[in-house]
Amino acid sequence: MVELLASAAAGVSIRSLRGTPGLQAADRLLRRVWNIQPGEDPPMALDVMCALAHTGGYIGGAYLGDRLAGVSAGWLAAGGTLHSHVAGVAPEAQGRGVGNLLKAHQREWAAERGLTAISWTFDPLVRRNAYFNLVKLRAFAVDYLPDFYGPMSDGINDGDVSDRLLVRWPVVPASGGVSGGASGGASGGVSGGDELLAGSEVIVDEAGAVLSAGNAPLLRCATPADVEGLRRDDPAAARRWRAALGTALSGALTGGYRITGFTRSGWYLLARGDVS
Ligand SMILES: CC(C)(COP(=O)(O)OP(=O)(O)OC[C@H]1O[C@@H](n2cnc3c(N)ncnc32)[C@H](O)[C@@H]1OP(=O)(O)O)[C@@H](O)C(=O)NCCC(=O)NCCS
Repeated sequence: MVELLASAAAGVSIRSLRGTPGLQAADRLLRRVWNIQPGEDPPMALDVMCALAHTGGYIGGAYLGDRLAGVSAGWLAAGGTLHSHVAGVAPEAQGRGVGNLLKAHQREWAAERGLTAISWTFDPLVRRNAYFNLVKLRAFAVDYLPDFYGPMSDGINDGDVSDRLLVRWPVVPASGGVSGGASGGASGGVSGGDELLAGSEVIVDEAGAVLSAGNAPLLRCATPADVEGLRRDDPAAARRWRAALGTALSGALTGGYRITGFTRSGWYLLARGDVS
């Protein structure tokens, strides 16, 4: 069943990718999503994808008709889990539910193998991904990883420090099904309304300034509206944002706070460990 997960409404079908031509198409798509120029590193090398597919790893492809529009790949990891290294949707197909269906397929694949959770990292400055991961999918942020990949040379991250948030997404047992999309049946996570912010202390404001290390029961931390655009147009401002979250968000997490919310307007909400 996991070989073909279809959404009639979105016109999308998802299946595991095997065979060199399919993986070459996946490579071309990932290079396009990440805007990889000659000489830059793709998010996952083609030879690694071939080896991964051959050795029982996860590579899912999302098709709009017969056109590959999304790819996700990951490997079996410690503790009976799947680590998802990459997920990308063609720019012209983004925002139509393809990413959500890819994650649903990934979780169904993991459930069929008796895996308990899926982990992945994302850039905490990218609002779109924070909202998708924490609110839509309801994954849990478990760690802040400073400069996780070292300096990167691709079209999205070029010139920036690669701080990442590590998330964990519990897998619903195989009998749980995938109805309701990728978030259906998730056991927890965060919700996204601005009302969550009431009574919280600002640790990074909307201009990217660190205001405080934070010691209130609830904290909030802003993100830039479009960090990828900022990296192109104002790299110094993008670096200031990176440093601000690297100080304040990372500091709060290592100081015992946990991320309990992310709003549409781009705020992380954090609660002290003793606050429910
Ligand atoms: C992240 C990505 C895979 C999501 O795929 P997608 O097909 O666009 O996502 P969906 O249409 O399924 O949207 C799912 C949710 O993502 C969030 N989202 C997607 N695009 C968004 C945008 N432009 N702004 C804010 N949130 C957005 C929303 O929460 C959305 O749900 P909603 O519309 O019900 O609120 C895709 O945007 C992508 O390939 N981005 C570039 C590569 C990348 O950053 N990969 C992720 C690394 S973790």
